[in-house]
Amino acid sequence: MSNASLTIALSKGRIYKDTLPLLAAAGITPVDDPETSRKLILDTNLPEVKLVVIRAADVPTYVQYGAADLGVSGKDVLMEHGGEGIYEPLDLRIACCRLMVAGRPGATETAGRLRVATKFVNTTRHHYAAQGRQVEIIKLYGSMELAPIVGLSDCIVDLVDTGNTLRANGLEPLEHIADISARLVVNKASMKMKSARVKDLIRLLGEAVERATPNP
Ligand code: ATP
Ligand code: PRP
Repeated sequence: MSNASLTIALSKGRIYKDTLPLLAAAGITPVDDPETSRKLILDTNLPEVKLVVIRAADVPTYVQYGAADLGVSGKDVLMEHGGEGIYEPLDLRIACCRLMVAGRPGATETAGRLRVATKFVNTTRHHYAAQGRQVEIIKLYGSMELAPIVGLSDCIVDLVDTGNTLRANGLEPLEHIADISARLVVNKASMKMKSARVKDLIRLLGEAVERATPNP
């Protein structure tokens, strides 16, 4: 097996937690725990493999520019980024949820220009452009569910899993935009220059995914 150096970009929280068993199945175990360590570059049991732990929305950018060879990123984040300079070879079938329009019942049936609060500005623009509908998009960085409650927007575009957050705030899902799961992403140059090592890792991760969540 080639031992070319590899840097893998991950985000803290659910992506890290859910990716860990898949990496372990591919023979990669971090030495430090990002939840307790202040280190941004984590060593692993393999001297040539490092993990960088960054904000979820930054993962595609690190991979695009080759600062990381590979990364794990939600499809929501990839859609928003646009996917330039990166391959997306594997659905890891973790961190599954849906990207939805949500609001109070009937919130999108307004005659005027719809106001939509979201952190997914590009995806929201594309979604409504495909419907031929002009909307006003208000960029937020979190807690989107608050926006319709305080009259900041008519509706939101956000991730929904159990629906508990929507229900707790008197909102409901109104339109489905996309099914979301985390994807393995690869820098295009790394795929070529470190082909043997990268393809080996994709194969091992793919086998681990298949064992963890067999395709029906
Ligand atoms: P940051 O790193 O900036 O804090 P974040 O808050 O978006 O980013 P997470 O909440 O850990 O980070 O979400 C990471 C990814 O996990 C999202 O991009 C999405 O793909 C998925 N995700 C988010 N919320 C849920 C959820 N409730 N259930 C399942 N998957 C989710
Ligand atoms: C996500 C998302 C929703 C919630 C949906 O937030 O932004 O608010 O999960 O999940 P549910 O349908 O199961 O309630 P998260 O928990 O990641 O919090 P954060 O946005 O503050 O990171």
